[in-house]
Order: sequence, then structure tokens, then C-alpha cells
Amino acid sequence: MIRRKRTAKTVGQRHDLNYFKAWTPSRKWRFALIAAFCILGLAWFLSSFMPGRQAAFSKGPLSRAHSIFGKQCSTCHVNMNDHGELKTGFKNVASDAACLSCHDAPSHQKTLTFTPTCGSCHVEHRGVFRLTHMEDMNCVQCHKDIATYSTANSVHIENVVLGFNTKHPEFAPLREGEKDPGTIRLNHSVHMKAGLRGPNGQLVNMECSDCHRTPADAQRPWHYSEAGLKPPPRQDHEFDLPNPDTDRAHMEPPAYARTCFACHTLEFDTHIKEYAPHDKPEVVHKFIIDRLKEYIARHPEALRQTRSDDRYIPGQTSIHVAHTTPSEWVEMHTKDAEQILFRKTCKLCHQMDYRSADGTLTPQALPKVVESRITLRWFPKSVFSHQAHMTVTCESCHAKALTSTQTEDILLPGIKTCQTCHNGRPNVEGVSENGCFLCHTYHKWDQRKDFKGKYTIHQLTGSLIFNGVETMTRSR
Ligand code: HEC
Ligand code: HEC
Ligand code: HEC
Ligand code: HEC
Ligand code: HEC
Ligand code: HEC
Ligand code: HEC
Ligand code: HEC
Ligand code: HEC
Ligand code: HEC
Repeated sequence: MIRRKRTAKTVGQRHDLNYFKAWTPSRKWRFALIAAFCILGLAWFLSSFMPGRQAAFSKGPLSRAHSIFGKQCSTCHVNMNDHGELKTGFKNVASDAACLSCHDAPSHQKTLTFTPTCGSCHVEHRGVFRLTHMEDMNCVQCHKDIATYSTANSVHIENVVLGFNTKHPEFAPLREGEKDPGTIRLNHSVHMKAGLRGPNGQLVNMECSDCHRTPADAQRPWHYSEAGLKPPPRQDHEFDLPNPDTDRAHMEPPAYARTCFACHTLEFDTHIKEYAPHDKPEVVHKFIIDRLKEYIARHPEALRQTRSDDRYIPGQTSIHVAHTTPSEWVEMHTKDAEQILFRKTCKLCHQMDYRSADGTLTPQALPKVVESRITLRWFPKSVFSHQAHMTVTCESCHAKALTSTQTEDILLPGIKTCQTCHNGRPNVEGVSENGCFLCHTYHKWDQRKDFKGKYTIHQLTGSLIFNGVETMTRSR
């Protein structure tokens, strides 16, 4: 009888405690395979950097605008051939010079400490719909502390901007103590009241669009304009096809002839039906004299009339005498007319300046009309378009226009109004775009130079086409 001596020790000895150190055939194979793959991978990776080799990284589709020449890698990657192989160097770089061979994209500021590459902001190979839609970081990399990224001794803008809804300064005209520099007196509240006395004593309700319209909308007739006033012919865009956005970004400055005339006419003498021209006092002066001369020549009997319409003018004694000569009559009536016009009618809307060049007061001379200074662009450092916001009522952004009584009031919306809508990326419902690119330009487009295209159609499309048949593919 065989008795097995089965103890814990004998059982334990049946196992090779160093089994993991053993080089079994299958293990050898596995190791060899892993090593081979690693070496192969590394070799493939490294070789891709060698001239003449295929680019190593997967590159996605080009942006829509560039897909036309997407097969010709070399148009952007100067060291790559059109098969995506590197000709020189170890890294493929899309050079800024290549971009600038097709685009004139002026720099951002003269005072930059460094210039980011075109491709860092306009991200390629992601098939993006718009190359101009980019992450805020592209701007915030400098604007998080602009003073350190400017070569100027001092900067003229708010130093820290991190994001439109996180940290962005209040718009300059809305800051403490800012005033509208305009000199035309306009009481918005009076004119927006229901039942305003309009032309011929009619009661009317004025709308913002009776005084404010974009250049494109200024073509339609105005309610309170000079009779027969024709809108100025459109000059710049006659050759463009109608586009819903053309000329609809900003409002035309209100003009007397279009917007005030019907209710604030410029009468100057009861004898004459015409109104004084809305022009410089010198022109008004000449017009008055001419009309009065004409009148007295045709109506000599007026010389014998006493002035029945004598109006009390402070500092002047009314005279009830008949005039002796026509020129005296004209002089007298001109003086009266100008008293009324310059000291009352024009003064309703204008600041009249009676000082001569050296600053001394000259009440007898013709006054100067102080420049109107109606601001055309309130936010010159940003882009804005009324067209994009035409869905919204004027008052919901310009609420102060209903209550303001002084020209110096600022009626513009502040940043909080914009933030109610522009509060994120529109891939989330309930928000509207708030990327820096929406409201700002980066390139100083007014500094564009004379630019000429360099490519032929064939070079750009990569093929030579004769009579509609592709005969040859471009190679470099
Ligand atoms: C419109 C210009 C443009 C064209 C055409 C273009 N690329 Fe690019 N490519 C870029 C930009 C911009 C970048 C990213 C910026 C950079 O790294 O210089 C880039 C990056 C790359 C990268 C990554 C490079 C790296 O070092 O990070 C590869 C690989 C690449 N492109 C391959 C190709 C290939 C292959 C083609 C041709 C089929 C091609 N590209 C055509 C503009 C272009
Ligand atoms: C071979 C010529 C060519 C080269 C090189 C080129 N582009 Fe373009 N680009 C075009 C054409 C054509 C369009 C479409 C017309 C347009 O919108 O101006 C375009 C459009 C654009 C647009 C506007 C379209 C959009 O989606 O917003 C941007 C931005 C742009 N290119 C930037 C670049 C950058 C950055 C580079 C360099 C990496 C570059 N381009 C290289 C020809 C070129
Ligand atoms: C390389 C650094 C840098 C980058 C990147 C940069 N900026 Fe600027 N930016 C500046 C400097 C410097 C100034 C001028 C500051 C000064 O001197 O007051 C400036 C000025 C501005 C101004 C005021 C312009 C004016 O007319 O006064 C705006 C708006 C602006 N940047 C927006 C942007 C936006 C939007 C982007 C991103 C698309 C951007 N910046 C990217 C450096 C940069
Ligand atoms: C009777 C004509 C008239 C009407 C009606 C009128 N405005 Fe004005 N508005 C003016 C004139 C003139 C100016 C320039 C003088 C000034 O700055 O007050 C002006 C200036 C403005 C300005 C820029 C000046 C600033 O300080 O912000 C805004 C904005 C404005 N108006 C909005 C409106 C809105 C909104 C309405 C309708 C609720 C409206 N206006 C109705 C004549 C009018
Ligand atoms: C009901 C208001 C109103 C009255 C009254 C009025 N104006 Fe004006 N005036 C305006 C407005 C609004 C403008 C700015 C836009 C324009 O050119 O019509 C203006 C502009 C002017 C300008 C151009 C100044 C500049 O800087 O743009 C002159 C000159 C002028 N007026 C002269 C006169 C004279 C002279 C009288 C009186 C005979 C007069 N105005 C009466 C509203 C008025
Ligand atoms: C529909 C008629 C109408 C139009 C158009 C109109 N106004 Fe008036 N305006 C009036 C009436 C009526 C008053 C007197 C209101 C009152 O005192 O209650 C008035 C008063 C004024 C006053 C004195 C306001 C005050 O503070 O008492 C000024 C200044 C003025 N208008 C300027 C203008 C200017 C500038 C325009 C063109 C941009 C204009 N108005 C267009 C009807 C009009
Ligand atoms: C919804 C529109 C909007 C967005 C989004 C926006 N801004 Fe602005 N930004 C404005 C307006 C409007 C102004 C005032 C411009 C003026 O006063 O001329 C302004 C002013 C500025 C100024 C000048 C500040 C000063 O001191 O005068 C800078 C710098 C600036 N923005 C940078 C940025 C940057 C960076 C981003 C992205 C993080 C951004 N903005 C996003 C509308 C916007
Ligand atoms: C989404 C808000 C918003 C709405 C809605 C809006 N505005 Fe504006 N408005 C602005 C901003 C912002 C500016 C300053 C733009 C600039 O000059 O840079 C402005 C400027 C103006 C100006 C000064 C001239 C100019 O265009 O810069 C007038 C006048 C004006 N608006 C009238 C109106 C009238 C009338 C309506 C209705 C038809 C209207 N606005 C609707 C935001 C708005
Ligand atoms: C009622 C919501 C609302 C308000 C308030 C609003 N916006 Fe917008 N805005 C929009 C929408 C929606 C768009 C279209 C967005 C898009 O195309 O991605 C837009 C577009 C814009 C654009 C691009 C215009 C264009 O033609 O491409 C600018 C710039 C802008 N807004 C600035 C402003 C500023 C500055 C304010 C504050 C004075 C403001 N917005 C207030 C809803 C709003
Ligand atoms: C800091 C980011 C940034 C850099 C760097 C940059 N851009 Fe732009 N670019 C923008 C923004 C934001 C816009 C849209 C606003 C504008 O028109 O300025 C734009 C607009 C453009 C447009 C006009 C697109 C259109 O059709 O509206 C072209 C073309 C362009 N860039 C080419 C270039 C070229 C070429 C370079 C390199 C020399 C370059 N960009 C460098 C941010 C940048």
C-alpha cells in the first residue's frame, strides 16, 4: 500500500515559485511582438518627420472656405508636397506668409509684444463652418492683463477682460459722468408723449422711426419732412444686389429737413409766405434781404403801412412810424425777422454764438450756429448692428428715450442689457453667442493695402481643365 506523504510542504514544492521568471515559448513570442510593434510605431512616428514622408498626425477636413484647395497641402504648408509629405524640416508648419499670399489681414495693434500665428486663432483641419468663430482664450491670453502685452508706456483701455459675462468693462459712454456731447436741443420725453400737436394742429403720436432710421430705410418717405423732400440718391450700393443687411447697422443722424420741418417751420415775416432756408445765418440773412426787396418792389404801398404786427422784443422800443424809403423798410424788417429767428426760432434747437473770433460779444453781428456734434458711432471699438436686433422694440434697449428731457442724457443700453441675451455658446438653448469675435474686430481693416491675387484658377483647384475635361493634375 502506497501511502502518499501529503503535507503542506510537499504540496507547496510542486509549484515553481519562480514561474514568472521562466521564458516559456509563448511568452517569448508575446514579448517579441510587443517590442516589434513599439519599434515599428516609433520608427513610423519618427520617419514621418523626415523629409519626403507622409504627415504623421491625422488631419481633419479643412474649413469650408478652404476646401477648394484642400488637396494642395503646399499652399499652406510650404515645406510639404501635395501628397502631404514633408520636403524639408522635421515639422510641418502652416506659415503666416502662405495665408498672407491670399489674404490681406492687417495686424491688431502696433503695440503687441508678440504676434500669435494665423493658425492659432483660425483653427484648421476641424471642418469648421466659420474660421472666424474662435475661443475667447485667443484674445484673453493678452487681455487678461493687457499692460504686460503692450509695448506702449500706458494703455488706453481697461486692463483686465476675461469674458463677456465674467469680466468685461462697462461700455465707455455708459460710465459714470459721461454726457452726450451733442448741441441740438431735443426733449425726447415731450416728443414721445401721446397726442403731440403736429402739423396743422393735428394730434399725433410720434414713433422713433419718425426721426431715426438706417440709411437703407431713409429711402422711404418721412412723415414730418419738408414738402417734396426727396431722399438723397443712394451712391455706394447701386451696383450691389439688394441685401437685407446693407446699410442697416446704424441710424442716420436726425436732420431738420427730414424730421423737424413739418412742426417747427422757419417763418420770418408776415408779408412773406416762404420759410427761411435751414442754413448758415449768412445764407438766411441774404435770403431775407432778397425776399424783402422783391416784396417791397412789387408792393410799394406797404411803405405807408405802419407796423401793425409789432412784436415786443426785449431791449427794443416799438416804432409806429411809416417808412420813407424801400431800403429803410427792408433794413427794418430784416432786423425784426432776424431778432425772431436767431434769438427765438433757431435758439429753440440750437446754441447760438454771438462772440467774434477774439471771444468778445458782438450782439449786433450775425451769430454762429454752434456745431451740432451728433455722434454717429457710440461704440467705435466694437461692432454693432441694428439689423441683427430688429426683432426687439427700440425701447427695450433705449428705455431712457421715453423719459429723457435733456440732450446730454445718454440713451444707450449698458452691458447688463446685452448680457441678458449674450450669455454663452448657442449650442445650449436659451443663450446667444458671447464670444469676443461677435462684437469685436481683431484686424485693423482700415489699414489694408493694395492687394492683388496671385493664383490662377487652375493653380487653386489643382487641375488643368480644357473644354470641361480635366486633363492633368497639378504637381509640385
Ligand atoms: C488652408 C491652409 C491649409 C491647408 C491647405 C492644409 N493645412 Fe494642414 N494645417 C493648417 C494649419 C493652419 C495648421 C495648424 C497650425 C500649425 O501647426 O502650423 C495645420 C496643421 C496640420 C498638421 C499638424 C501639424 C503640426 O505640426 O501640428 C498636419 C499633419 C497637417 N496640417 C497636414 C496637412 C495635409 C496633409 C494637408 C493636405 C491634404 C494640409 N495640411 C493642408 C493649414 C492648412
Ligand atoms: C490659396 C489661397 C488661400 C490661402 C493660402 C489661405 N486662404 Fe483663407 N481663404 C481663401 C479663400 C478663397 C477664401 C474664401 C473667400 C473669402 O471668404 O475670403 C478664404 C477664406 C478665409 C477666411 C474667412 C472664411 C471663414 O470661414 O471665416 C479666413 C478667416 C481665412 N481664409 C484665413 C486663412 C488663414 C489663417 C490662412 C493660413 C493658414 C489662409 N486663410 C490661407 C484663400 C486662401
Ligand atoms: C498679442 C496680444 C493681443 C491679443 C492676442 C489680442 N489683443 Fe486686443 N489689444 C492688444 C493691445 C496691446 C491693445 C492696445 C492696448 C492699448 O494700447 O491701449 C489691444 C486693444 C484691443 C481693443 C481696443 C481697440 C481700440 O481700438 O482701442 C479691443 C476691442 C481688443 N483689443 C480686442 C481683442 C480681441 C477681440 C482679440 C481676440 C480676437 C484680441 N484683442 C487679441 C493686444 C492683444
Ligand atoms: C422728434 C424726433 C425724435 C424722436 C421721435 C426720437 N428721437 Fe432720438 N434723437 C433725436 C435727435 C434730434 C437726437 C440727437 C440729439 C440728442 O442727442 O438728444 C436723438 C438722439 C438719440 C439717440 C442717441 C443719443 C444718446 O444720447 O443716446 C438715441 C439712442 C435715440 N435718440 C433713441 C431714440 C428712440 C429709441 C426713440 C423712440 C423711443 C427716439 N430716439 C425718438 C430725435 C428724435
Ligand atoms: C426744430 C429744430 C431746429 C430749428 C428750429 C433749427 N434747426 Fe438747424 N439744425 C437742426 C438739426 C436737427 C440739425 C442737424 C442735422 C441737420 O443738418 O439738419 C441742424 C443743423 C443746422 C446747421 C448745420 C450745423 C451742423 O453742425 O451740423 C446749421 C448751420 C443750422 N442748423 C442752422 C439753423 C438756423 C440758422 C436756424 C434758424 C433759422 C435753425 N438751424 C433752426 C434743427 C433745427
Ligand atoms: C409732430 C410734430 C413735431 C416734430 C416732428 C418735432 N417737434 Fe419739436 N415740438 C413739437 C411740439 C408740439 C412741441 C411743444 C411741446 C410742449 O411744449 O408741450 C415741441 C417742442 C420742442 C422743443 C422744446 C422742448 C422743451 O423742452 O420744451 C424742442 C427743442 C424741439 N421741439 C425740437 C425738435 C427737433 C430738434 C425736432 C426734429 C428732430 C422736432 N422737435 C420735431 C412738435 C414736433
Ligand atoms: C456682446 C458684445 C460683446 C462681446 C461678446 C465682447 N465685447 Fe468687448 N466691448 C463691447 C462693447 C459694446 C464695448 C464698448 C466699445 C466702446 O466703448 O467703443 C466693448 C469694449 C471692449 C474693450 C475696450 C474697453 C475699454 O476700456 O474701452 C475691450 C478691450 C474689449 N471689449 C475686449 C473684449 C474681449 C477680450 C471679449 C471676449 C472675452 C469681448 N470684449 C467680448 C461688446 C462686446
Ligand atoms: C439690442 C439693443 C438695441 C435695440 C433693440 C435698438 N438699439 Fe439703437 N443702439 C443700440 C446700441 C448698442 C447702439 C450704439 C451703437 C454704436 O453707435 O456703436 C445704438 C445706437 C442707436 C442710435 C445712435 C446712432 C447709431 O446708430 O449708432 C440711435 C439713434 C438708435 N440706436 C435708435 C434706435 C431705434 C430707433 C431703434 C428701434 C428701431 C433701436 N435703436 C433699437 C442698441 C439697440
Ligand atoms: C433679445 C436678445 C438680445 C439682446 C438684448 C442683445 N442681442 Fe445682440 N444678438 C442677439 C441675437 C439672437 C443675435 C444673432 C446671434 C448670432 O448670429 O449668433 C445677435 C447678434 C449680435 C451681434 C452680431 C451682429 C451681426 O450682424 O452679426 C452683435 C455685435 C451683437 N448682437 C451685439 C449686441 C450688443 C452690444 C447688445 C447690447 C447693447 C446686444 N447685442 C443685445 C440677441 C440679442
Ligand atoms: C488673435 C486671433 C487672430 C489671429 C492671430 C489672426 N486672426 Fe484673422 N481674425 C480674427 C478674428 C476675431 C476675425 C473676425 C473679426 C475681424 O474681422 O477682425 C478675423 C478675421 C479674419 C479674416 C476675415 C474673415 C471674414 O471673411 O470675415 C481673414 C481673411 C483673416 N482673419 C486672416 C488672418 C490671417 C491671414 C492671419 C495671420 C496673419 C490672422 N487672420 C490672424 C482673429 C485672429
